[in-house]
Formats: sequence, structure tokens, C-alpha cells
Amino acid sequence: MALLSWSNQYSIGDDLIDTEHEELFRLVNAFHDHWQEKRNQQSIAELLNQLITYAEMHFQHEEAIMLDAGFPRLAEHQQVHEAMVETIFKLRQSFEANDSHLEMNTMKFIKTWLLEHIIQNDYLFRDFLVRQKNSLETAAP
Ligand SMILES: [Fe+2]
Repeated sequence: MALLSWSNQYSIGDDLIDTEHEELFRLVNAFHDHWQEKRNQQSIAELLNQLITYAEMHFQHEEAIMLDAGFPRLAEHQQVHEAMVETIFKLRQSFEANDSHLEMNTMKFIKTWLLEHIIQNDYLFRDFLVRQKNSLETAAP
């Protein structure tokens, strides 16, 4: 069963960010399914690597979009991204060392990581985009 399901409530209002978040949900679900079906360690590790690579690329895109938009909380957001990448690298090390407890932690982290990050941090950007759009509309002749 899928762990996460994408819905429009997660939309940030930027097409690329939304498309990439949706793909991240898909990768998290695939990783979760492999793990739950007790597939071989190698295929689970491959999916975890795919997820990490995709997340890193996505963070770069997201930061570039935020920079372009003049998002004032970009530096703070970059720190959150960095901390997430650091945590996931540590979890991957434990995962590769075959620690089953840590597998569980990896799963929990990935699940909450994506949702909490989108809800707590990326929504700040969504609100900023909405405010920006409204002020442009007000300023229009
Ligand atoms: Fe983000």
C-alpha cells in the first residue's frame, strides 16, 4: 500500500516544485514498498540512492526558484535542506550496515521528512508567492 498520496493540498504554486514534490512522493512510496516487501537489500539501497539523488537535485532547483523570486527566507531554507541531506546520508550509512532498527528510523524519517518539510518550510514559500502575486495585482494600473 502506498505510504503517501499526493494531493493538491501539497501544492506550493510553482509548477516545477510541485512536479518534483510529486515525484518525491512516488520515490518514497517505491522505497517503502520495496522495504515492506522485504526485497533484497541491494534493490532497496538502489531506491534509497535514487531518492537521495533526486532530493538533492530538487533542493537545488527549489533554491534557484526561491532566489529568482526574491524569497527573503532562502538562507534559512537552505540550512534546512542541508540538515536533511546530512541526516539522510547518516541514515544511509546505518542502512548499509544492515541495522534493522535504523531501517525503521530511515523509513520514519523519509516519511515525516518530506511531509513536514513541505508543510512547515515550503508552505512559507507558497505564502510568499501568494503575497507577491497579490501585491503585483494591487500595484497594477
Ligand atoms: Fe524545500
